[in-house]
Amino acid sequence: MKRHFRVWRGDASGGDLRDFDVEVNEGEVVLDIIHRLQATQTPDLACRWNCKAGKCGSCSMEINGKPRLGCMTRMSTFTEDETITITPIRTFPVIRDLVTDVSFNYEKARETPAFAPPPGLAPGEYRMQQVDVERSQEFRKCIECFLCQNTCHVIRDHDENKPAFSGPRNFIRAAELDMHPLDDRTDRKEFAQASQGLGYCNITKCCTEVCPEHIKITDNAIIPMKERVVDRRYDPLVWLGRKIFRRDQLESAENMAPSTTVGVAGTSGGTTLGASGVPHSSVRLPESAPIGPDGRMDVAELLAPQQGGLSPFGEDISFPLPPEYITYTHPERDKNQ
Ligand code: SF4
Ligand code: SF4
Ligand code: FES
Repeated sequence: MKRHFRVWRGDASGGDLRDFDVEVNEGEVVLDIIHRLQATQTPDLACRWNCKAGKCGSCSMEINGKPRLGCMTRMSTFTEDETITITPIRTFPVIRDLVTDVSFNYEKARETPAFAPPPGLAPGEYRMQQVDVERSQEFRKCIECFLCQNTCHVIRDHDENKPAFSGPRNFIRAAELDMHPLDDRTDRKEFAQASQGLGYCNITKCCTEVCPEHIKITDNAIIPMKERVVDRRYDPLVWLGRKIFRRDQLESAENMAPSTTVGVAGTSGGTTLGASGVPHSSVRLPESAPIGPDGRMDVAELLAPQQGGLSPFGEDISFPLPPEYITYTHPERDKNQ
């Protein structure tokens, strides 16, 4: 049968939604329809894809306003008369049609200090038990689709936060290394707080909601990292250590210096610069979300009638999300029960 699609077409200078009626067969996914469009009506429609199996993370897009993988979104999830609107992920600059420039994520990944095995341990001598990696193994499922990065409100509607915020994908990398039994660095959480912008995250769990690998980004990576930061700040023994030792001694003991890896945008006078020429997070301290009079952080993104600004691509979903879209306990739903 024929179904109605609206697909955003354009480039960095602008574009609009175009209407198409396309044949849809049983068992097909949205990426099949894009391929049919390319084969029949729009041979120059740009779309990234590789595996068509939910494993390469290339085909990220927004389908009816929801960040999804095109190859894992079955056409049977829509009603027969529903118009399906496909727009590029909106947190990153459009190159053409559904293809965006996601190099921000790679720049941030390069800032993360690499795995550091203990000195003297050769690769063949890395021996671990399954129990040692049980917690961090989940994070290795990441396919780098960047849907979590695209969804996080800290950068989705606030481009100005990008220099200071690495985003949920990089928080799970920091947590994975922090929980790694053979990683010798002791400063992963301090690095996440001071240089990756962990304090910007107000644990709304939107990233977890969209992860196609069902990684519990907030519960299993971000919250444990935040707790460890707090432990180090308020643990009385650590506090005493900070009083006794000089700052430079502590920094060298804890190996707190951020990565000196040159990002793709290079350096200037020893300062790492982002693509926009703005100093990266390693030289800017993030501020955490404000704490309310009841001692809790605001979860405005869940309760606000509209999440940030409207999509520049012309379609959006309304907020708050209906409870059936949300898999964890929603505060409003609790209140109504
Ligand atoms: S929990 Fe919310 S604020 Fe934190 S990284 Fe995920 S989407 Fe961003
Ligand atoms: S954590 Fe999930 S949503 Fe984020 S990049 Fe990895 S697979 Fe994609
Ligand atoms: S094409 Fe590889 S994840 Fe969709």
